[in-house]
Amino acid sequence: MSILIKNGTVVNEDGMHKEDVLINDGIIVAVGKNLDAPENCRVVDATGKLVMPGGIDPHTHMQLPFMGEVAVDDFYSGTRAALAGGTTMVCCDYALSMAITTWNDKIRDEMTEVTKPEYGINSFKFFLAYSGMFMVRDEEFYQGMMHCSKIGALARVHAENGSVIAEKAKALLAQGVTGPEGHTQSRPEELEAEATNRACVMASQANCPLYVVHVMSKGAARAISYHRSKGAIIFGEPIAAGLGTDGHHYYDKDWLHAARYVMSPPLSRDKSTPEALMDLLAAGELHLTATDNCTFNCHQKELGRSDFTKIPNGVNGVEDRMAVVWHKGVNAGKIDPMRFVQITSSTAAKIFNLYPRKGRIAVGSDADIVIWNPTDMKIISKNTHHHACDFNIFEGMEVRGFAETTISRGKVVWENNELHVEAGAGKFIPAEPFCPYVFSSVPQRAKMMAPRMVVREHERVAEITMNQEI
Ligand code: URP
Ligand code: ZN
Ligand code: ZN
Ligand code: ZN
Repeated sequence: MSILIKNGTVVNEDGMHKEDVLINDGIIVAVGKNLDAPENCRVVDATGKLVMPGGIDPHTHMQLPFMGEVAVDDFYSGTRAALAGGTTMVCCDYALSMAITTWNDKIRDEMTEVTKPEYGINSFKFFLAYSGMFMVRDEEFYQGMMHCSKIGALARVHAENGSVIAEKAKALLAQGVTGPEGHTQSRPEELEAEATNRACVMASQANCPLYVVHVMSKGAARAISYHRSKGAIIFGEPIAAGLGTDGHHYYDKDWLHAARYVMSPPLSRDKSTPEALMDLLAAGELHLTATDNCTFNCHQKELGRSDFTKIPNGVNGVEDRMAVVWHKGVNAGKIDPMRFVQITSSTAAKIFNLYPRKGRIAVGSDADIVIWNPTDMKIISKNTHHHACDFNIFEGMEVRGFAETTISRGKVVWENNELHVEAGAGKFIPAEPFCPYVFSSVPQRAKMMAPRMVVREHERVAEITMNQEI
């Protein structure tokens, strides 16, 4: 099946031009001016629209078993929602990232195994929060990152100080603070900033590139920026929730309303944080956007009615991320459409070694494309979203700009407000280790960090390195 997208403006991370795009058999086969339609080719008119690489959401949890429940967006409903919002990979096509929640020799060997091409995993996530559940100790995290560095995998971190959070939560409950406001009070931003700083220091000591998921506060962003200024290889990922709303909801009088926003790290109680995070994305101090999509329904959130530590953590985002980022970024004059492509698609493709197969409109790339309407308005609502969950944290938000048509590997899957998808159509995209975008300087850094030894003989002191190449 061929498709010719005519009269649109093609936007890549490094340029935008009025060009047509020809797709055949799931692949982009031509990009240029005034392309002719081959026989039996469907022509899609994109006059006044932007033709961009489909979004890549590098952080979602479909059907995650978590806190005694299972997230309600499964791989089918979650990826449908993604496509309706212009995201073509988490996803619909998908890659996997593995969580390391404890440390031993067996796990180390399994990590090595799953980075082989047949398994295609090139990143591992460590939690410095969720004490008693997923949390790893510093020495485990450090050893895990040492191993990541050796096998060419990116370490990802959920950075909050889980031990202090557990103590604060106990104290709050003992004082009678049992509602969702206790969630945010038990997790002050300082604890995110401290753990982010610690993770950056440890990654640098382990000579391991680090990806900080869900950067929710200015303090955490500052820590990333500081370590990058010293040359560390660190990527910072704010999420749609943190860019689109804030933590005032935790104090809502309606318990359920407040519980709906419970996620970790919590949404910032500083109202200026969403804009500040967007400014840092614009400045290149933060690098890409995701969602951490992990949705729970009303009856699941109710499990924490008398104890906020039992409210399943997680919110929606995968469907609305592109529109929220466009609205808060491009419409606010903070970023241009090319930076939009970078922070919603191409940087993720680069970091996870999928570029330019994903994240670019170019000959030979997968035909994952969103045709973006930049002029019309849409109101985000649970009544019209495609998630399996019964709430939307962006309810009522008016956004200008949205995905009008989504094409996933050459198939039109979203148009005229309708999905045309088939369960199981998504393809696993293996991600190879030693991504050049992430790892190119790591071997040389290893040489610079090689241990040095001083040999002292007879009064003569000779300094040599254990690595003779230096
Ligand atoms: O609250 C959150 N973020 N839920 C999903 C699990 C995680 O921490 O990423
Ligand atoms: Zn997390
Ligand atoms: Zn509210
Ligand atoms: Zn997550």
